[in-house]
Amino acid sequence: MMSNSVSATAYYCAGTRMLDALRTDTLLNDSLAARFMGDDGLLIFEKFRHLAIPIGAHQVRCYLIDQAVRMRLNVDPDMLVVLVGAGFDSRAFRIPGGRWIEIDEQPIIERKNAVAPTASCGNPLRRIAVSFHEERLRDVLAPLATGAPTLVICEGVTMYLEAAQIDEFAATLADAFPRHWLYVDLMSRGFARTFAKGMSRVLASIGTAFSSLEPDPLAHLRRLGYKIEAKHALLPAAIAMRRVPLPAVAGPLLAMLPVVRNGYLVALLANAGIPPIEARLSRG
Ligand SMILES: C[S@@+](CC[C@H](N)C(=O)[O-])C[C@H]1O[C@@H](n2cnc3c(N)ncnc32)[C@H](O)[C@@H]1O
Repeated sequence: MMSNSVSATAYYCAGTRMLDALRTDTLLNDSLAARFMGDDGLLIFEKFRHLAIPIGAHQVRCYLIDQAVRMRLNVDPDMLVVLVGAGFDSRAFRIPGGRWIEIDEQPIIERKNAVAPTASCGNPLRRIAVSFHEERLRDVLAPLATGAPTLVICEGVTMYLEAAQIDEFAATLADAFPRHWLYVDLMSRGFARTFAKGMSRVLASIGTAFSSLEPDPLAHLRRLGYKIEAKHALLPAAIAMRRVPLPAVAGPLLAMLPVVRNGYLVALLANAGIPPIEARLSRG
C-alpha cells in the first residue's frame, strides 16, 4: 500500500527498464527491474504500456544518467552517491564504484530489501525509508552531511514538486552537501501540457499528477545557483537513438520544435561549491 501517491510511478520507471532488459540492444541491462515489479507493479505498468514514446524516452533518460554517473565514478570511485526518490533504481548494482544511499518511501525500500538486499550489492549501499510528507528531507540528510564532493541523483521526481519544494530541496542539498553535482530530469509546463498529455491521463488514473511546473525549470535551477555542466534534450536524444516508434521523417521534424528541444531535459548540474570545469581541467 503506497501512502505517497507518486510512489506508484516508481513501477512505471522500473517497467521501462524491464522492457529495455528484454531487448537484444539493451541500454541498461537492468536484470533486477522485472524482479522488483511483482504482480502489483505489473498491474500498474499495464496502464502505461501503450505509451511507447515516453517508455523509449525514459529508457534513454536512465541511460544518459548512467553514462554521466559512470564517468563521475571513474574519476572518483569512492564518491558518495545519494538517490532522492530512488524508486527501483538499481544503479548501485549495475555501476562499479560509489558509496550509495537510496532514499524513498517505506513500501519501496521494503520491496527493494526483499528482492535485492543491500548485502548482495557489489558496492557499499544503504537504504533509508522516509515519509516525504511527514519528514523533512533536511533532517534525513543531516546525519549524512559531508563537505566531500557528492553526487545527488533525482530522476523522475522534480515534475511532481512545486517550485517552492524545489527551492527547499536545493537549499537542503546545499546545506548537507556543500559540494555536489545534481543529476536531474526537468519537464517544462509547456511540455507537460502538450507532449505529456497521454502520460498525465494515466497518472490521473492512478491518483497522481504532475505539479503545476515552471515554464523553464532549468532557468529556475540556475537562479538557485546551479551551473549547467551538460544538458540533453530527452525526446530528440531518444529519437536519435531510435528508441521511439516514429516514422523516419517525423522524428527529426518533431525534434526541431522548441517545446521538444527545451521542454524535457536531462541536466547535469554543479552547485556553487564545485569549481568550474575549466578550473578542474587546468588542475589536471
Ligand atoms: C517516477 S518515480 C522515479 C523513481 C526512480 N528515481 C526512477 O527513476 O526509477 C518517483 C519517485 O519519487 C518518490 N517521491 C515521492 N515524493 C517525493 C518527494 N517529495 N521527494 C522525493 N521523492 C519523492 C516516489 O516515491 C517515487 O519513487
